[in-house]
Amino acid sequence: MSFSRQVGTGLLLCSAILAGCGERAASTDAKAETQGAETAAQAGGDVSAWPKLEPALPKDPAVEARVDELMAQMSLEEKVGQMIQAEIKYVTPEDVKKYHLGSVLNGGGSYPDNDKFATPQDWLALSEAFFEASMDTSDGGTAIPIIWGSDAVHGHNNIVGATLYPHNIGLGAARDPELIRRIGEATAREVAVTGVDWTFAPTVAVVRDDRWGRTYESYSEDPAVVKAYAEAMVKGLQGEKNDDDFLRGENLVATAKHWIGDGGTMRGIDRGDNQVPEKELAEVHAAGYFGALPAGVQTVMASFNSWNGDRLHGHKHLLTDVLKERLGFDGFVVGDWNGHKFVPGCTVDSCAAAINAGLDMFMVPSDWKELYKNTLAQAQSGEIPMARIDDAVRRILRVKVRAGLFEHQRPLAGKDGILGSDEHRALAREAVRKSLVLLKNNDQLLPLKPTQNILVAGDGADNLSKQSGGWTISWQGTGNTREDFPGATSIFEGIEAAVEGAGGEALLSEQGEFAADSFANGEKPDVAIVVFGEEPYAEWHGDLSSLEYQLATKKDLALLKKLKSQGIPVVSVFLSGRVLWVNKEMNASDAFVAAWLPGSEGAGVADVLFTDADGNVRYEFTGTLPFSWPEEVHQTVLNPYHKNYEPLFELGYGLQYGQESLVSNELTEDGETYTDGALEDAWMLVSRPRAPWQLQIAEADRAPVVMAGNRAVSGDDENIIVASIDMESQEDARQIQWKGLRGGSVTLAAEKPQDLSRYLKEGAALSFDVRVDSKPEQPVSAAVACGEDCVAELPLQNALQSLETGEWSKLSIDLQCFVDKGADFSQVSNALALSTEGQLSLAVANIKYVPNAAEDAEIRCQG
Ligand code: BGC
Ligand code: BGC
Repeated sequence: MSFSRQVGTGLLLCSAILAGCGERAASTDAKAETQGAETAAQAGGDVSAWPKLEPALPKDPAVEARVDELMAQMSLEEKVGQMIQAEIKYVTPEDVKKYHLGSVLNGGGSYPDNDKFATPQDWLALSEAFFEASMDTSDGGTAIPIIWGSDAVHGHNNIVGATLYPHNIGLGAARDPELIRRIGEATAREVAVTGVDWTFAPTVAVVRDDRWGRTYESYSEDPAVVKAYAEAMVKGLQGEKNDDDFLRGENLVATAKHWIGDGGTMRGIDRGDNQVPEKELAEVHAAGYFGALPAGVQTVMASFNSWNGDRLHGHKHLLTDVLKERLGFDGFVVGDWNGHKFVPGCTVDSCAAAINAGLDMFMVPSDWKELYKNTLAQAQSGEIPMARIDDAVRRILRVKVRAGLFEHQRPLAGKDGILGSDEHRALAREAVRKSLVLLKNNDQLLPLKPTQNILVAGDGADNLSKQSGGWTISWQGTGNTREDFPGATSIFEGIEAAVEGAGGEALLSEQGEFAADSFANGEKPDVAIVVFGEEPYAEWHGDLSSLEYQLATKKDLALLKKLKSQGIPVVSVFLSGRVLWVNKEMNASDAFVAAWLPGSEGAGVADVLFTDADGNVRYEFTGTLPFSWPEEVHQTVLNPYHKNYEPLFELGYGLQYGQESLVSNELTEDGETYTDGALEDAWMLVSRPRAPWQLQIAEADRAPVVMAGNRAVSGDDENIIVASIDMESQEDARQIQWKGLRGGSVTLAAEKPQDLSRYLKEGAALSFDVRVDSKPEQPVSAAVACGEDCVAELPLQNALQSLETGEWSKLSIDLQCFVDKGADFSQVSNALALSTEGQLSLAVANIKYVPNAAEDAEIRCQG
């Protein structure tokens, strides 16, 4: 079954961006097979794959003369300083003065003085202090204003009390570029209050594999939508090119990110490798730049990902030949968070290759001083040509002059009434209404009359964190409570207001419980609205190995079924950062609304779900799918360019009130048990434990301790300590310390035993990265458990002894070895358990079962 859109604008596909979208279907599909050959052919790159663009702004002689004049006064030290962006936790105004730093940023969840509740005045004061330091020439040098950047990606989301708009995926459902422009404008105003000059937005990724943890930062899988929105958002944030206040006053400097191909990495792995031909890079992944560049976007952020194995931060062809020359970009390229360190031959504090490739400013949060020194030395030695330094600095100064930073007029600075103002919240609420997509409405259950008994259930109903997602006050969007959202409205609060005003009654019960006398009229609920969905995440922490919703627990499904079994009609409101496989939940719902991540104005949901007291529709559903919705769990890359495009709901689908459409209650329920298709690596711990696996400390006769945050300990004596540490990126590894007071294990355990027998059949190995910090003193084992009384244990001590202490190594074990010790892979309850009775300290990362890897495993067994 596949539902296509029946009314309205129809599919918005492959419009006028570039010709040739039609044939793309085949090339995307055939990609995997032809990849090897193409990679070799493209190593140099081909600018003719790209259309030629003129610079967005004509050269302004006055601006260029001003830049020349400044450059003539600057020493090499000052120039290199301009190319450095440090993070506010690691840099002071004194440093800015001394090193003439060009920029600062605050990372996700970083605030002045490390105070989450820092006021707009505190932000502004710090910004003024940085500005003054940058203009202070008492030690000599040239006064160049600093530029402060922040991720205002759905409103000014690092500051408590700001208006939070729906994340980009929800905006994509609105198909309304003018709305996006207004959101850009309102966001710029809130940011300007706090003295921040620059936002790292919009993200213009065109997503291919929906398992990517940043899918919600993308407007759509449709390049045409991304292009139109990129243009509108840049105009909203920066103002129109010809306006007097372009980039100034109430406007900001914007960033198109992440150049390029971030949304097309294999398997949706964040920071991974994009392997498409250059033509497809230009036609699909660059779509947003064809909107943002002509609109005059002043900065572009280099991406963490690589293209055919080469990291973007070191990619001269794509940064210089394509972006700056072919596409006429005359602003500056900023790096992403230490992104330069992944370029071959580079480290976090030394990377001439990135500058030589065309990076203009390093984003180097903490290690900026060493990087500054090394870059200076590389400029002095000629490893970085002086012409390249001058070009980079000229670009940075050009943007600073254009943005009026020297004049330092900040008309909105300190006007904190603008943050979270009624006007902005009304706009966000409008955006929420327009972002909702009605997928199922059997028997026309919606709209609801507000005069009824309404039971509101689900852990998303009264949960501002969950409705706001990642990049909300903290980087991951976790760790927030109600107090962190002053002025915001939860979805339940919106429902309550709609219902109570009209004579109905709304009862909130997360578990969907009610009693005979719960409602004043003594009746049972007329309908249940269940709000559920994904927990917040950001970047790679959100990468999935399966699109199956709640693979581990299915607890929301149980809630839906419980309500249905009581004869209560069920409306599901699904909060998510991407399309997911929800057939089971869909089957158990009478109506199903995709609400994405709506942000601070949850009342927009009730605006659409409820009529007025007389039964008149107040707001129609107008949202349509920005992404194709999968019917089968393995449809992870699903879009209309595919030959075999068989989604459950097509791109652009969305019902309206009154529209007849019966969605079957018997959609296929074969989820991850479905065994066709290629077997991919099974991820157990990659950055974080992957559902259904949980990291636990297990000791005899004690309840297991689940690691929920970034540290877990067993017992008062802390016999075992597990802590998150960094291997390649933040918190992607776990350090485990056994004190040896008693025996104990650290396990990757699933609540419900998992059938992994296919991995055994396909010659898989258990593979992980390990770093031994202190050699084991007593036996250590690696085990797989398969339900009660089924444990297959292998000695691991010799393997660990042979590794170099303090160094990361890879270790893999043929699954057959566990079978020889009695493992039954059709019911795995612990994918890995590491145990010892002695003292031991080691770190692990990237724990997976990898098909066809047994033959090359370090620990092999013949079977
Ligand atoms: C920062 C984020 C950043 C992330 C990336 C976090 O610690 O707060 O702003 O995006 O690291 O590596
Ligand atoms: C992210 C960027 C972000 C930067 C600063 C990075 O980890 O990839 O999108 O702008 O951090 O927070």
